[in-house]
Formats: sequence, structure tokens, C-alpha cells
Amino acid sequence: MSEILGRIRAHIGDLSAYPPGKPISELERELGVSGVIKLGSNESPLGPSPRAIQAVAESIGELHRYPDGSCFHLRAAVSKQLGVAPENLLFGAGSDEILEILAKVFLNPGDEVAYFWPSFAMYPIVAAGMGGKVRPVELRSPFALDPESLCDAIGPNTKLVFIANPNNPTGTSLGQAELEVLLQRVPQDVVLVLDEAYIEYMRRDDRPRTLEAVSMYPNLVVMRTFSKIYGLAALRVGYAVADAELIHCLERARHPFNVNSLAQAAAEAAIEDQEHVQAARELTLQGLKQLETGFDALGLRYIPSDANFVLVDVEEDGPALDRRLQGRGVIARSLAAFGLRHYLRVTAGLPEENARFLEALRQELGGS
Ligand SMILES: Cc1ncc(COP(=O)(O)O)c(C=O)c1O
Repeated sequence: MSEILGRIRAHIGDLSAYPPGKPISELERELGVSGVIKLGSNESPLGPSPRAIQAVAESIGELHRYPDGSCFHLRAAVSKQLGVAPENLLFGAGSDEILEILAKVFLNPGDEVAYFWPSFAMYPIVAAGMGGKVRPVELRSPFALDPESLCDAIGPNTKLVFIANPNNPTGTSLGQAELEVLLQRVPQDVVLVLDEAYIEYMRRDDRPRTLEAVSMYPNLVVMRTFSKIYGLAALRVGYAVADAELIHCLERARHPFNVNSLAQAAAEAAIEDQEHVQAARELTLQGLKQLETGFDALGLRYIPSDANFVLVDVEEDGPALDRRLQGRGVIARSLAAFGLRHYLRVTAGLPEENARFLEALRQELGGS
């Protein structure tokens, strides 16, 4: 090892990088083909609102200007849509950046971060990246998010609790009753982060009323993103809703121009086009049904999902199957890195993409 590498801070040296989904262009280069489909990164198959694309086109002439560091217009649009005050909002380059800001603001070396596992791979990465200690709490069979067991893992050194609801990669979720348990049990000096990246897809009737709770719980942070149902993953915009004083502290730890101007313009237009959001939701719910019907026909067990993807037990080695599917030009996601060796996670795509995935799966599982 070179001398300089020996000086890397120990907790960074121990980190594993986030394993991103394979891009379509990379697989096409590898296979020397075109027409690869990607159902591996929970993206919206509908793409963004045409109004968002138009807004990007209109902003392109201003690339030589720094963006508005306060996200003034986007803030106003999100504030109106959600019915929260502008000062309760913090914007980031994706919700990934919000997670990082929270870790930067709250964690001293050795402070603990509790979260369910398996869950979003960035939770341990941002925690360990700040020198924090990770406290994963295993999901109960079949991947249920039990708020009591998470609260039991909170100790005197816990500073942050991260919960994805619905959870990635399982698609399981918490309702209002479980939110109330968390709000009662998580101590006031521990930040409770509810990461609602997939909330718009949730099908359960008792959707947790997190935004209402923000005004009563100064330790609650609700996170949302434009990367999923809004179809703007490439532009990187996410936001947090929380108590204004807490937001004010978090603001100090962000980069001054963290959300670029194309992203701001697109996100503002996108949140104003709720008809498009509804269309994206409908398409995904139909896609989930199509996948579930296909899994039933193949005799495969799957986990009913509240998000835009579904976890399926393929009853064989997931990474090997994943590679074979890629050979057929289909990108899904093996979950071996999460300890789920026999599972694949597949995002609901366009009807023809779902059909192509199911057919490739049938052939790879030995169907004629
Ligand atoms: C639960 C969860 N939170 C946050 C994110 C990150 O979203 P963003 O693109 O806003 O950084 C993802 C992305 O996959 C996710 O699954």
C-alpha cells in the first residue's frame, strides 16, 4: 500500500462503496447489442412530465449562472403542494445528500445509527462514513418492519434512526399505528428520519400521516425525492420536511449550490403536474399486477409490495440468474449483497418490459 493510502481515516478505509445498478449503456457495450431493458434501479418507466422537460429546455440558456442557492421557486411549489411552510423544507442533490447532511450534522465518532436491515444501502454508508456505529435491526419474517424492535435498539449513544417507508428492497411498509409507536418511543433527542422515497406508490389505506406529525415532533425528518415517481433521477433532487429550527441547522452543512438550476426548474414543473404523477402511479400499479401474475404462473413466491418494485424468491442463486438474465438483455437486481441470495428485486416497467423480463425469467428457470 502506498504511504498516502495508509493515512486514510480508518472508517473510510473500511467502507464498501454503494453498489449501483448496471446502466443500460454498459450492458449494451458488453453484449454488443441494443435494446437492453433496465428494471434494476426503481426508476419510473413513464419518465418525467413533459412540463419538466420543457422547463429544462427553457433553463439551458442560463448555464453560465450559478443556481439559486435557496431554491426559491421550487421551495414555493413544494410548500404549496404539501401544505407545509417554506422554512420547513431543505433541498438536496437527491435524498442521498440529505442523508449525508444529517450524518454530518449529528454524528460524532462512535455515535450510533439504527435502521432496519435489509434496507437502503446508503444508511450504513453515510453512518460509517462519518465514523458512526451502525445498528442494523433485522426485519421480522416475512420482512415486516416492527417498530418495537427498532426502538429496542436505541441506546444512549443513538443519534439517528433511518427508516425507509415503504422499505427498499422489500417493498414492505409501516402504517399510521406503527408511526405512532415510533413517535411515542423514539426519544426526543434522537432524530427519527422517515425516508418516503416510494410513498406515492403506497397502496395501504392507513398511510402514515408524517407531514402532520412534523409540527408536533421537532425530532422528526420526512424525506422525499424527485427520483422515483417524478422520473427525474438523473437530475438529483430530494428534500426534507422538518421543524424550521432543525432545517436551519441542516442548511449550514450543505453546499451553497447543491441543487443545480436545471434540476430546480424540472422539479418545480414536475410537482405542479400531479396528473402525470397519477399516470405514473397507475402504470406502476398495473406493472406490479402483471409481474405478480407472471410470478404466480411460474410458481414463484413474492413479497406483496407497497413500492414500485417487487422482491421475488427465485429459489436458486440470485447473482447467477441475474447474470444470465443480463445475457438476455434484461437488467434486474440480485440482492445477495443484502444477504438475500435467492431473491431478485424487479422494478415494475412498461407492459412490454415486464413481459420481456417474465419471458426471460421463464426461459432461464428451465421453462421450454
Ligand atoms: C429508500 C431510498 N431512499 C433514498 C433513495 C435515494 O434517492 P435519491 O435519488 O433522491 O438520492 C433511494 C434510491 O434508490 C431509496 O431507495
